[in-house]
Amino acid sequence: MNEIIRIIMERRAIRHYKAEQIKDEELKQIIEAGLWAPSAGGRQATKFLICQNSEINEKISRINRSFMPSPNKVNDHNVNEKQISIAEDATIQNAFYGAPTVITVFAADQFKYPINDASVAAENMMLAAWSLGIGSAYIGRVEETFKTEEEKNLMENNGIDSTYTARVCVCLGYPDGEIGKGKTRKEDRIYFIKD
Ligand SMILES: Cc1cc2nc3c(=O)[nH]c(=O)nc-3n(C[C@H](O)[C@H](O)[C@H](O)COP(=O)(O)O)c2cc1C
Repeated sequence: MNEIIRIIMERRAIRHYKAEQIKDEELKQIIEAGLWAPSAGGRQATKFLICQNSEINEKISRINRSFMPSPNKVNDHNVNEKQISIAEDATIQNAFYGAPTVITVFAADQFKYPINDASVAAENMMLAAWSLGIGSAYIGRVEETFKTEEEKNLMENNGIDSTYTARVCVCLGYPDGEIGKGKTRKEDRIYFIKD
């Protein structure tokens, strides 16, 4: 198996992070991978807000958490038994799982495909991270999270104006503890059309 395919298959959503910050050189490579993601029309209409301030990340994560009010599968271990998510465990308050770096990807509202643009950038960064031994998690409910007055100010004070909408947060950090296994992939998802 080639290296890229191995990384794609071995990457897991990580929800336990070491407190230690990732290295600047690693972060730089991860951001570069995001910048080199495909973009609709080649417009590069995404912006990246990298937050390594633990207080701010904690605050945003709790707002994000509030948009998933009641975990629906407590102790069901539906995702990965070693990487339990907030959807399964009501006691996890930090929706970023304490990751020391969180990258929010914003996309320009004026163009089509903002979610697609942000998502491919996120995936590029998550795969680059894994290739460097860094764990990541794709976080949803981000549009709502950044619509609060304080978060809008945070964006604008950091150079991202209100013509952009936050689409995804990517948590990053060194994995702590066991990674666990991904769920077996369903087999009824592939259909061929051949001559
Ligand atoms: C659109 C989307 C939204 C997601 N939102 C969250 C989230 O809010 N919190 C979380 O812990 N994981 C989230 N995930 C990660 C998934 O739970 C995870 O990718 C899935 O369970 C498969 O596990 P794996 O990534 O380890 O293969 C999200 C993934 C996607 C693609």
